[in-house]
Amino acid sequence: MSKQFKHIHPIFEQLMQRGEKENFLNQNAKVIWLTGLSGSGKSTIAQGLESVFFNKGYFVQVLDGDNIRTGISNNLGFSQEDRQENIRRISEVSKLFLEAGIITICSFVSPTKKIREIPKSTIGKDDFIEIFVNTPLEICESRDVKGLYKKARSGEIKDFTGISSPFEAPENPDFDAKTADKTIEETVMEVAEFLLPKISK
Ligand code: ADX
Repeated sequence: MSKQFKHIHPIFEQLMQRGEKENFLNQNAKVIWLTGLSGSGKSTIAQGLESVFFNKGYFVQVLDGDNIRTGISNNLGFSQEDRQENIRRISEVSKLFLEAGIITICSFVSPTKKIREIPKSTIGKDDFIEIFVNTPLEICESRDVKGLYKKARSGEIKDFTGISSPFEAPENPDFDAKTADKTIEETVMEVAEFLLPKISK
């Protein structure tokens, strides 16, 4: 045991196990991780999935970048170190939700392979499902729903993903959601169909 845990005595095994909670909720808990550029549609897809699953009787929680950054990550910016710390916190929080038997939908830019390794290793490959919200930069920028791309281009916002900070597309996502020629509803249904067999008992 490393030195920092010398006087810490975890009680993981004494707690009620995840399987009992999953049985209670009649579902398999998973962490569903949406990665993609700002404005790619992650949050909208997360909300769509939440409502589809909830209406089918599943118990779901969404964790979303812009929300998390007003709370647990409100002291973090967008340097690589801060993004890593942001994602480390979310990964630990997601794991707690997972242990509670809850289907957890995470919507974070999580721009690099190194950063996405954090939830992958924290949660473990059996419970982590990576969805690439694959919307080209040109489309995200032309929509510019929050007006952030304009500010990034003018230099008002620094380290902006896709403009002045890297985005590395996942090479082997569990699902590649190519949104360009589809409506949001179509994408949500496609992703939901892929996920339903994994979350149902
Ligand atoms: S992450 O890189 O740490 O995963 P996160 O998903 O939490 O990012 O937050 C991204 C959201 O913050 C974007 O949707 C956007 O609205 C906002 N944002 C503000 N500044 C930046 C920036 N420099 N780069 C990316 N997103 C930014």
